[in-house]
Amino acid sequence: MDRREQIAALVREEMAGHPVEAADAEAGHPLVLSPYGAEEVIGALDALLSTRVTMGERVRAFEGEWARYCGVGHGVMVNSGSSAVLLMLAAMVELGRLQPGDEVLCPAVTWSTSLFPIAQCGLVPVMVDVDPRTLCISPESARAARGPRTRAVLAVHLLGQPADMAAFDDLLVLEDACGAHGAMYQGRRVGSVGVAGSFSFFFSHHISTIEGGMIVTDDPALADTLRSLRAHGWVRERADRAEWVARCPEVDARFLFVSSGYNLRPTEIAGAFGLVQAKRLPAWLARRRANHAAWCAEVSSLVQVFPEAADTQHAGFAFPMITHGDRASLMAALEEAGIETRPISGSNLVRQPAFERVVGARAPVPLPTADRVHTHGLFVGNHHAFGPVHGERLRSTIERWSRA
Ligand SMILES: Cc1ncc(COP(=O)(O)O)c(C=O)c1O
Repeated sequence: MDRREQIAALVREEMAGHPVEAADAEAGHPLVLSPYGAEEVIGALDALLSTRVTMGERVRAFEGEWARYCGVGHGVMVNSGSSAVLLMLAAMVELGRLQPGDEVLCPAVTWSTSLFPIAQCGLVPVMVDVDPRTLCISPESARAARGPRTRAVLAVHLLGQPADMAAFDDLLVLEDACGAHGAMYQGRRVGSVGVAGSFSFFFSHHISTIEGGMIVTDDPALADTLRSLRAHGWVRERADRAEWVARCPEVDARFLFVSSGYNLRPTEIAGAFGLVQAKRLPAWLARRRANHAAWCAEVSSLVQVFPEAADTQHAGFAFPMITHGDRASLMAALEEAGIETRPISGSNLVRQPAFERVVGARAPVPLPTADRVHTHGLFVGNHHAFGPVHGERLRSTIERWSRA
């Protein structure tokens, strides 16, 4: 055994029994369980021991794997899902496909950093209600909110549920799939349906690179712009690098900047994690989907649930519910039973104090479902290591609470 193999053997021994595949049912129902095992640690150690730790071959390999999985030509990895949403929008402005002041439809119920980058890129967020059947953007509400400057929609696939995108054929569709890894919409992976799609690989997501994110797209010009924007506006990672160099002979090609960029690069540690985690996803996704379907059936008579919509495959991120009764007491009963709870993402973002700071944001239509989510919505964790025991505990706890 060489030294690397000895290190790998030690890591495997040290992490044996780590609950990456099966949780201890008695341990309760937390929001998040550590999702990685020995192979991810060995991959990360390999990167560290090689001393090639800044963005390189592992990130590129993971980008290729993830793009293939999504069914598109390009993946551009970044340091978070929030960065992926920001970069996707910034690239649209950089390429002139959206102009400053153009309106982007955004569901009122989503994560904060779905919304904020719209305004950060000089675009105008127009808040739209969500569909009471899916919690994703409501096509009817979107129709009512549209104006002459509406050019794009951010279709957020909330908590693994694919958004209905059929109504947005005449708009630029950008997908926020940060919590919907592997979900399907009309036979295609979410993220591959619109012009581009964002993913998050944060610790609590379907697969994780600790922190991390990716944009996927089939558009090579967009992929090039994303690569520049990710790394200082640099020409370095672009497929059309040679053309730029030829066009700018007066600038040293090693430090040639062609976009007004950021630095949102991931590390090779994240790339190494991603390569192992991507292999685990199909089996994990199947378990999350099974949990989602089973739990929907078990508690649908007690609370409102959100089953898979027609012609889609749900990715079962977290398990959202809307209570017909008092939310605080239901949350307390669940927590008491060891089932961790949270509100549904940012709930109605228009009601968050930060909304006032989102330059230009408008909420031109009523938001009754988002308001209902705000006051009566909650979610509990779903995880590949959970199963029937967790569903039964959820059902019996809600049933006891409803009788009290
Ligand atoms: C819909 C959505 N967009 C964006 C994000 C941000 O991702 P990150 O936490 O990796 O920045 C999240 C995070 O959960 C999300 O759910």
